[in-house]
Amino acid sequence: MRLLIRPGVPEVAEAAADLIEERLRSGLRVLGLATGSTPVPTYTELIRRHRAGRVSFSGVRAFLLDEYIGLPDGHPECYREVIRRDFTAHVDFDDDAVRSPDAWSADPDAAAAEYDAEIRAAGGVDLQVLGIGRDGHIGFNEPGTPLDSRTHVTDLADETVVDNSRFFGGVRDSVPTRALTQGVGTIREARSLLLVVTGAAKATVLANALRGEIAPGCPASVVRDHPDAVVICDEAAAAGLDRTPD
Ligand code: F6R
Repeated sequence: MRLLIRPGVPEVAEAAADLIEERLRSGLRVLGLATGSTPVPTYTELIRRHRAGRVSFSGVRAFLLDEYIGLPDGHPECYREVIRRDFTAHVDFDDDAVRSPDAWSADPDAAAAEYDAEIRAAGGVDLQVLGIGRDGHIGFNEPGTPLDSRTHVTDLADETVVDNSRFFGGVRDSVPTRALTQGVGTIREARSLLLVVTGAAKATVLANALRGEIAPGCPASVVRDHPDAVVICDEAAAAGLDRTPD
């Protein structure tokens, strides 16, 4: 695992976009996308580079990490709308090439298995972008999720519901409490992982993930035993780490 510490959010976004640009140039075909706040500056930087003619997503397929269960189809906070608004609609992604778990299926367990199969059929994820929850989740894999789990239906931890209520006007009861998420095992199968972490609120969990045990108690800890993982964080998020970046 490589750890890159940058001064602030703009520099983190630039470093993350540099990595994605480099992988696009060397033939990346399947990109795994996270939603949430953290990757937005990276996506904005990629949009800027696309407009400048530097990067293209033509022919690239994207797989989202997760999707809420229970929102009406087309709700502005469902992740397939969020990613479109924040990123994919502003670059040359084919809309059909951006996939997400079918949270509207009458049979979400079957939809989960189909999503894993779809990722496999696409040849697997070349580079998976990840954020981290304050409780150590990646995707919506809350602490305790087995490290070999596949895409599945899950309940959100209370802390995650509270954190995500900022996207729902601060109304906790408006936040769905269930989701379909790629499993930790699914995420680990990506050929490369890029974990982006910013802000002082993530300092404790980042230290746990990078310095504690690799264990279900902190799903994000799996970045450490992945053969090609890069963690890019800002100084604020790095505050709990001993400082030995590569
Ligand atoms: C979103 C996702 C989540 C977020 C995490 C951090 O698709 O999978 O794991 O990455 O909740 O969210 P932010 O970046 O909003 O702090």
